[in-house]
Amino acid sequence: MEITYNLKPDSERRIEQFKPDGDVGFGKLRTDHMFLMDYRDGEWQDPRIVPYAPFEMAPGAMSLHYGQSIFEGAKAYMHDDGEIYTFRLDKNAERMNRSAEIVCIPYLDEQVQLDAINALIDVDRLWFPMQQGACMYIRPFIFATEDRLSVSPSNQYTFCVMISPSGAYYAAGVNNAIRLLISKKFHRAVSGGTGASKAAGNYAASLRAGKAAAEYGAAQVLYLDSTNTQIEEVGAMNHFHVLKDGTIIIPEFTDTILQSITSKSIMELSEILGCEIRQETVMLDQFIADIQSGEIVEAGGFGTAAVVSPVGSYIFEDNTVVTVGDGKVGKHIQRIYQVYTDIQNGKMAGPEGWVK
Ligand code: COI
Repeated sequence: MEITYNLKPDSERRIEQFKPDGDVGFGKLRTDHMFLMDYRDGEWQDPRIVPYAPFEMAPGAMSLHYGQSIFEGAKAYMHDDGEIYTFRLDKNAERMNRSAEIVCIPYLDEQVQLDAINALIDVDRLWFPMQQGACMYIRPFIFATEDRLSVSPSNQYTFCVMISPSGAYYAAGVNNAIRLLISKKFHRAVSGGTGASKAAGNYAASLRAGKAAAEYGAAQVLYLDSTNTQIEEVGAMNHFHVLKDGTIIIPEFTDTILQSITSKSIMELSEILGCEIRQETVMLDQFIADIQSGEIVEAGGFGTAAVVSPVGSYIFEDNTVVTVGDGKVGKHIQRIYQVYTDIQNGKMAGPEGWVK
């Protein structure tokens, strides 16, 4: 792919305003540039890196009306050699195309996605946040741009990659356990819908539930299936729990659950972690009974942004609270987090090809 570069002159780059010691937060900062590519006349074309700036888009652009828009979340880390390494980007590129298929967006070659991201990281590499635990959060996304109001797949799209130097998604990070609202009122997805994709609309659909969670003092919602009997996911992350023998259970991936790359990676690490990791249907009643009997000792979420986030308690809409173990961050989760982030940060060798 021949990328065109229209870069900001050094004097206009904002890098000097970037304070590596400050709290970068999650998703707040932007680097100087973005990658763009358009889909027109039946093909992806005009790959370019340009200054980060607002888009010019028709008010009738179909993504604004019918939500034909998908995204990914990936991360890059600086290792001790001072180089920046991406983590399992190929998995993000594959998942982008799975999402694309679900909302009728044209396939975008995975190598093109990887080349775009690597080129952008290279241009804005001085933006790497040096504070402890921070990384470059990469946000590739595709949205429909055709100016037309009939409900059918757009004929035009833009693929954009932007980078946000970021820290932990949940301010508490791995050191503090969060509370989740188990909602029987709000649902994220139904079978046959778009729940398995990173479609923008799935996240819009979660906002009202997120507001309700905050009213219960919870960080997020743990979604159930539409019959309110099975545990699904958390929206910004997959859910998991740990049995007292150390076995990790992740709800089986169905078409209402986004397949987290973190979940998949942790499953592939079972040998290194020295524990069994399996996926199964998790029934809500059994899950609660197992917490209360002490069979389940820890719980949490896996996600790119969230990494490994411990859950200390659950609250129901009738205000019943169920605490997992002592409600604090457990030793299994600490270890999973340590191993996983050591691999991402190049402090420990992971499986071949994960870090590039
Ligand atoms: C990610 O984990 O990268 C996500 O996309 C979740 C996001 C909504 C913060």
